[in-house]
Amino acid sequence: MRAPHDTLTSERLVLRRYTADDLDLLVRLHSDRRVMRFAGGVHERSKTEAMLRERILAYYDQHPGLGIWLTSERATGAPVGMHLLNHIRDDTVIQVGYLLYPEYWGRGYATEMAARLLRYGFGELGLPQISAITDLPHVDSQHVLLKIGLRRDGERHFPAYGSDPLAFFTRDAASWLAEHPA
Ligand SMILES: CC(C)(COP(=O)(O)OP(=O)(O)OC[C@H]1O[C@@H](n2cnc3c(N)ncnc32)[C@H](O)[C@@H]1OP(=O)(O)O)[C@@H](O)C(=O)NCCC(=O)NCCS
Repeated sequence: MRAPHDTLTSERLVLRRYTADDLDLLVRLHSDRRVMRFAGGVHERSKTEAMLRERILAYYDQHPGLGIWLTSERATGAPVGMHLLNHIRDDTVIQVGYLLYPEYWGRGYATEMAARLLRYGFGELGLPQISAITDLPHVDSQHVLLKIGLRRDGERHFPAYGSDPLAFFTRDAASWLAEHPA
C-alpha cells in the first residue's frame, strides 16, 4: 500500500517508490564509477537486481514509512537519483543517504531532499535519532550531512559495509527540531 511519504516533495524534488520496472534506472546509477566511487564500487546488474528485490521492494512492507526512493525533478519529471531513510544494513541505526546521477550534481539536490527527509523522519515518523555514514575521504557527502544539521560523531565500523572505519554523523530529534523549527 502506498502512503503519503511515498510522494514526499521538497521545493524542486519529489520522491516515489521504486518498482520492479525501475531496474534499468537503478543499474545506470550503480554501474557509474563516479557515483559508486565512495559507495562500495560499481555493482553488476545481478547485484543491483537482488538489491532492488530484497533491500528496496521487500523493505517497504517490512518497515512502513522507511525506504529507498527514486528522486525526480518536479519541474521536468527527470529522475535525478535516489534518497533513502532506512536501516544501516544488519543494524538498528536509521540512516539518511543519497546517490545522484552526475549530471545532477552541483545543484543542491542531495541537500534539499536529505533535509526534507530529516524533517519527515523526526517530525512525522517520530524517529528519536537519524544518522549517516560515509567513507572517510568523502568530503562532499560529509559537507551535505553537516549542511542538513547532522553532527560528526567520530568513526564507526559496520561489518556489512566492509572492514574500514566510516565517518559517522548523527543527531537526535529534539536538538534538530529545536534548531530547525517548521
Ligand atoms: C555527494 C553528492 C551526493 C553531492 O550531491 P550534490 O547535490 O551535488 O550536493 P549538494 O546538495 O551539496 O550541492 C552541491 C552544490 O550545489 C550548489 N548549488 C547550486 N544550486 C543550488 C541551489 N539552488 N541550492 C543549493 N545549492 C545549490 C551549491 O553551491 C552546493 O555546494 P555548497 O553547499 O558547497 O555551496 C553527489 O556528488 C553524489 O551523488 N555522489 C555520488 C554518490 C555518493 O557518493 N553518495 C554519498 C554516499 S555516502
